[in-house]
Amino acid sequence: MFAESATLLRVKPSATAAASAKARALRAAGRDIIALDAGEPDFDTPDTIKEAAIRAIRDGKTKYTDVDGIPELKAAIVAKFARENGLTYKTSQVNVSPGGKPVIFNAMMASLSPGDQVVIPAPYWVSYPDMVLLAGGEPVFVPSRAETGFKIDPAALEAAITPRTRWLILNSPSNPSGGAYTRAELKAVAAVLLRHPKVWILTDDMYEHLVFGDFEFTTIAQVEPALYDRTLTMNGVSKAYAMTGWRIGYAAGPEPLIAAMRKVVSQTTSNPCSVSQWAAVEALNGPQTFIRPNAALFETRRDLVVSMLNQAAGLKCPTPEGAFYVYPSCEALIGKTAPGGTLIASDADFAAALLEAEGVSVVFGAAFGLSPFFRISYATSNALLEDACARIQRFCGSLR
Ligand SMILES: Cc1ncc(COP(=O)(O)O)c(C=O)c1O
Repeated sequence: MFAESATLLRVKPSATAAASAKARALRAAGRDIIALDAGEPDFDTPDTIKEAAIRAIRDGKTKYTDVDGIPELKAAIVAKFARENGLTYKTSQVNVSPGGKPVIFNAMMASLSPGDQVVIPAPYWVSYPDMVLLAGGEPVFVPSRAETGFKIDPAALEAAITPRTRWLILNSPSNPSGGAYTRAELKAVAAVLLRHPKVWILTDDMYEHLVFGDFEFTTIAQVEPALYDRTLTMNGVSKAYAMTGWRIGYAAGPEPLIAAMRKVVSQTTSNPCSVSQWAAVEALNGPQTFIRPNAALFETRRDLVVSMLNQAAGLKCPTPEGAFYVYPSCEALIGKTAPGGTLIASDADFAAALLEAEGVSVVFGAAFGLSPFFRISYATSNALLEDACARIQRFCGSLR
C-alpha cells in the first residue's frame, strides 16, 4: 500500500487550488458559478512578449540553459532592480526559477535545518508555511489586524523572534489581504530586524506593480540598506505581465545564498523553460506601457468590490493598497443560520454556504491563517464582480 513520506505528511494541499477545483467541478455539473478564488490576471500576455517567445522557438533557443537562468535574463533582472527599486546587484546574485513559488521553496531548501524557524505574518499566502515544513523548518505565525491594514505590529514581530529564527517572510502587497507596507512601516519592521542580525528576510514583491492611487511601492533592502546583506528580494513576471502559465520567477540576494539555491536547482528542476526565459527578457526590457493602465483597471474593480461588500449585512471590508484581493471580515455573521438550516460557525462554513446558496466561490480565511475572514480575488470582469457582490449581499441578508 502507498504511504506518504513523513515529510509530506506534515504538509496540506493548497486550499486555494482546492477551492478552484470545487468551483470547476460544480460548473461542469451545470451549476451557475462565479469563481472569485483564483489568483491570476484575467487578461492575456501582451503580444510583444508572445512574439519574443515565438522568435526564440524559431531561433532554436530550445536547449538546456544555465540552471538558474540565461545571462540575458539575469542582466534584465539586474537592470529591473536598479531601475525600479534602486537596488544594485550583480548577475551572480540572481536566481531564475520556474515561477516565484520555486524561488521561495529553493531558498528554504537551501537554508533550513531541522528546527529552524521562519516567521510568517498572518494572513499569509497559503504556500509559505507548507514550503517551510517541506524544507524541514517550523513556521511561526504573527497575526495582524484588519484595523492596521493587516500589517504586522513591530512589537509582535520582536516577540516572535527566537534564537532559532532564520527568516522573516514579508509579502507586500499581500496575497490574501492586498495590504501593502508604506516606507515608514517597512522602516519600523527593519528597526526590529537590525536588532537581530541572524534573521534573514525574504521579501515577496510579486504584486509590486499592482498598487493604487498615489501609493509608493518600496522594498525592504531599498528602505534599509543595512539589511541588503541578508535580504532575498523575490519577484516574478506572473502577475505584472499576465504570465502565470509561463513559469518564470526570480530573486536577487547575497551570493552564498544564490549559490546554495543553484545547488538545489541543479539537482532538481534544472533550468526554467528556455522559451519562457526569452519571453521574460522581453517583459522586463520591453515596453512597460500596459502596466499602469492595468493597475488602474484593477483599482476601479477594487473600489467596486469594497463598496458593494460594505453594503452587505454583517460584512466589513477594508480598502487595500494593492494586489487584486480583498479580505473582508464575516465576524458579525458567525453564529447565524443559512435558509437551509446550516449553522455558520466559521469562515469555512460561510464560504461553503455561500457557494451552495449563490454559486459564488471564495476562499475562507482559515486557509490564510487569520479568521473569521474570506478572500475575494477581483481579477475578473466588472459585470461578473457586480453580479457576484449582489449575490453575496443577498446571501448575507438571508442569514438569521
Ligand atoms: C504572494 C505570492 N507569491 C508568489 C506567488 C507565486 O507566483 P508564481 O505563479 O510565479 O509561482 C504567488 C501566486 O499566487 C503569490 O500570490
